[in-house]
Amino acid sequence: MGEAQERTGRRLAAVPPVSPAGGPRPSVTAVAPAKINLHLAVGDARADGYHELVTVYRALDLWEEVTVGFAPEGDDDEVTVSGPGADQVPTDRTNLAARAVDLLRDEAGVDRPVSIGIVKGVPVAGGMAGGSADAAAALVATDRLLGLGLTRSELEERAGRLGSDIPFCVRGGTALGTGRGEELATLLHARAEQFVVVATARGGLSTPAVYAELDRLRAEAAGSGGREQPRVGAVEPLVEALAGDAPAVVAALLGNDLQAAALSLRPELRRTLRAGEEAGALHGMVSGSGPTCLFFCASHDDAIAVATELSGAGVAREVRVARGPVGGARVLDSRDS
Ligand code: C5P
Repeated sequence: MGEAQERTGRRLAAVPPVSPAGGPRPSVTAVAPAKINLHLAVGDARADGYHELVTVYRALDLWEEVTVGFAPEGDDDEVTVSGPGADQVPTDRTNLAARAVDLLRDEAGVDRPVSIGIVKGVPVAGGMAGGSADAAAALVATDRLLGLGLTRSELEERAGRLGSDIPFCVRGGTALGTGRGEELATLLHARAEQFVVVATARGGLSTPAVYAELDRLRAEAAGSGGREQPRVGAVEPLVEALAGDAPAVVAALLGNDLQAAALSLRPELRRTLRAGEEAGALHGMVSGSGPTCLFFCASHDDAIAVATELSGAGVAREVRVARGPVGGARVLDSRDS
């Protein structure tokens, strides 16, 4: 468990401090969930480099926690990250939580230094939107810290400017995502509880690299005149199945177009997928761009059994049981000066 910490050079604060020097300062802690894609249909690359998606997002109960507080006047901004994989998370201005804070601070015309503390609960570079969840939690926390009072849809609009998955991490639940994933329609009827074993892998995968590999595989198949890369089918049957409470029916309709690309880059994940299915999961699938693997189970007891088998098989770095759907980003705690 690494701890990364860095001070970032930034402008001096112009607004006088609310609290006396050395005294307590206002801070807000918020959480946001991991996402998985129950259905991820990837279209062709657009002119802007993004791919047109049709996806069904679901929020799982793995949480990122972000605390945003005012730092002493004259200090630089500070980003600290703790928890599993923290040493792989940037702490400069490219950090997604820092970008979220910047966006709202600039919009509000506030020029005070902040400290941002991130506690990782979602696998880093694992295809579960851990960085996006940081940004979602940071947006919600900063909105409260600065007293902006933005509506949920105003927060989601700003989230969409920062990244494709961030609006969903704000919203949570289960939602149909279109565009590059940022246009959301909540699937209100999709409420049945789902148990998922989350198996993280050693090392991460870069999302752009996985999309590029999918483009390459598709171009190669088209060029050779051979069989086209298989694509996931229509989303409607899954949306219908999610209205019911039959895990096996839902499991049979799950699909991820990025899986072939993730497996091409990390062939050893096939072994992980096989091990989970042999252990009794209804379906094993790469999560988003990977390399985290997901195993959908019929019950909580089944999920515990699959997780135990997988842990023993040594095919994953870490194995956890998660459940969904859960709500989106929310403030946990708000401390006044
Ligand atoms: O939007 P976000 O910054 O999360 O996307 C990360 C990268 O994933 C993009 O730069 C792009 O390479 C790829 N991506 C894509 N099509 C999408 C979403 C992401 O190609 N719909």
